[in-house]
Amino acid sequence: MTHRELFVTTALPYANGPLHIGHVMEYIQADIWVRYQRLRGATVHFVGADDAHGAPIMIAAEKAGKTPQQYVAEIAASRRQYLDGFFLSFDHWHSTDSPENTELSQEIYRRLRAKELIATRTIEQFYDPVKGMFLPDRYIRGECPRCGAADQYGDSCEVCGAVYAPTELKHPRSALSGATPELRASEHHFFRLSDSRCREFLRGWIQGGRLQPEVANKAREWLDGERELADWDISRDAPYFGIPIPDAPGKYFYVWLDAPIGYLASLKAYCARRGLDFEAVLRNPRTEQIHFIGKDIIYFHTLFWPAMLEFAGPPFKVPDRVNVHGFITVSGEKMSKSRGTGIDPLRYLALGMNPEWLRYYIAAKLNAHVEDVDFNPDDFIQRVNSDLIGKYVNIASRAATFLTRYFEGRVADVAEHRMQAEFGHSAEGIGKDIAAAYEDREFGKAIRLAMAFADEINTAFDAAKPWELAKKLAQDGGENARRLQEVCSLTLRGFQYLTLWLKPVLPQLAEEAESFLGCGAMRWESAALPPLERIRPYRHLMARVEEKQVDALFALPAIAGAAGATPTNANPTKETKVSSSENATAPLSANDTAAAPQPAGPAPISIDDFARVELRIARIVNAEPVEGAEKLLRLTVDVGEERPRNVFAGIKSAYQPEQLIGKLTVVVANLAPRKMKFGVSEAMVLAASHEDQKEHPGLFLLEPHSGAQPGMRVR
Ligand code: 2FM
Ligand code: ZN
Repeated sequence: MTHRELFVTTALPYANGPLHIGHVMEYIQADIWVRYQRLRGATVHFVGADDAHGAPIMIAAEKAGKTPQQYVAEIAASRRQYLDGFFLSFDHWHSTDSPENTELSQEIYRRLRAKELIATRTIEQFYDPVKGMFLPDRYIRGECPRCGAADQYGDSCEVCGAVYAPTELKHPRSALSGATPELRASEHHFFRLSDSRCREFLRGWIQGGRLQPEVANKAREWLDGERELADWDISRDAPYFGIPIPDAPGKYFYVWLDAPIGYLASLKAYCARRGLDFEAVLRNPRTEQIHFIGKDIIYFHTLFWPAMLEFAGPPFKVPDRVNVHGFITVSGEKMSKSRGTGIDPLRYLALGMNPEWLRYYIAAKLNAHVEDVDFNPDDFIQRVNSDLIGKYVNIASRAATFLTRYFEGRVADVAEHRMQAEFGHSAEGIGKDIAAAYEDREFGKAIRLAMAFADEINTAFDAAKPWELAKKLAQDGGENARRLQEVCSLTLRGFQYLTLWLKPVLPQLAEEAESFLGCGAMRWESAALPPLERIRPYRHLMARVEEKQVDALFALPAIAGAAGATPTNANPTKETKVSSSENATAPLSANDTAAAPQPAGPAPISIDDFARVELRIARIVNAEPVEGAEKLLRLTVDVGEERPRNVFAGIKSAYQPEQLIGKLTVVVANLAPRKMKFGVSEAMVLAASHEDQKEHPGLFLLEPHSGAQPGMRVR
């Protein structure tokens, strides 16, 4: 086989938050493929980076009182724990906010301009006169022009699903300052995707076998659909956290222009570190450029990105493959990223859960199609405990026991063909099928094939009844002993093959198994594996997953403020998208859709969780200041019980006590009583306030519509 040289990337996560399970799933998928290729002897450059630019990150940094550079640096520093934690073997992790990326982005832009593929046009956009900036759609709120729903985003209505231009919103206002935005004109730079050269090139590229069939169809629809491919707005006005556009003061590249170039920037930085020639790697006709991405960013990777690279010219090369995967759902439920991530990867690690369980489970569920992968807690436990450990890991302990006890760990020299006779299949044949499955990213199939072989090994072992042979070792002139050693040796030989086949998925377990087998680090280059001579005493290779660990993974934090509430084992109903760019099907709008702001609320809860909070209508029968307490009022509330309750509420800044007397409100009635300096608080009143209390002080007690009576349950 010719030597392969692979440049492999995963989508670059926005540097505005932690990695979620969707990212980890993508990285695990790519990592398994990369590890398989390395075992086959390929040279792989596997790189990632943070996607650092864009308005949302700039705004988030400002809110956090940091420079965007500081802000993204802190996020970047948090990546290592995920990468190491899940054995993700990236060669390099970079940032799009880097000198390499600036240089490459500007260079690619200049080349596109020289090819007359850049145009400028003046467009009108909403401008926030208070913040002094143009507003991305997501930062404009107003009433839906179709259904009138209040407080909708500038590009689409979450109530009726209408899609519109921000200028169509009724009563638009800036989500940043609250100001009414003004329409202002500004010159924008466009990549001329509508140019016939682009269409012609893309037609050929899409058909070149570089895409999964369903992805190629999608790209073809965009290319040859009814709507002409629109030019792509690649500029944003200052203030913007991004890369300056050459010869255009005050203009920056839109984050999606420099994000994929970040793949190249990361490779370049990696090459510099390793003393490799970046341009030579790209120019090498044998180098294959392969991107792993989620289904929401197909548009960018199958139209803009290949076209940019093609017309930028060498050393840049067009992608050889774009491998697209679906999202990860949890128990079949999809939920938005903004409402929290289903399985928190760091929580998983912190609970002491084995990262290889997750790698195995994800591998077992992945195929080469753009299908969503579901994480089902029961299925997870079953596959890890019954398949991975029950079938594969246990083989080693079963055979090792006898070899260690009766043969000082010595493995008999068993002929390969005996495996076929004993197990029903030759390792060589299965190995080939498994290799093909890895190559095609049919990981689920690879695992199924391996597990079927494990079943055969276990069945043969049971049929040979080694425990009976062991009982009559001295009989039959040593024949029983010979047979026992042979059975166990063949079994371990089978285990050795399984270990190699699962090594891309379970790198750490493989290392420990190799050390137990004493066979050195195995490669996947020659058909036969190094012979086994003597094993080390068996030590347990992997623990089983415990149900309580999975419960803890999904346990929700105690409901905010509900002292004494214990975390519950909520039914996980969360899904996380791998990437968050909105509008992947129509990303041609002039406005910024990337990295939409994500309100960081608590994780979703089930209706049962909500039912555990006892909300009741209360009448405030008395209110008075508390001596020595700056912020508190003492309320006496009637909740329809025999005696009124005493409540301390931190609302003094917003209300005069006498304003409150006689008013109805809502309290949490089953909050465990809390002993305070001034007495015991026996419930909690509910009040609304702005996230940012410093900037937007103000507290607003809830008040029911008339007719509500003290003691009524609120649900
Ligand atoms: O959708 C996202 O999360 C983007 N940050 C992905 C960028 S991939 C590449 F183009 F950099
Ligand atoms: Zn609407």
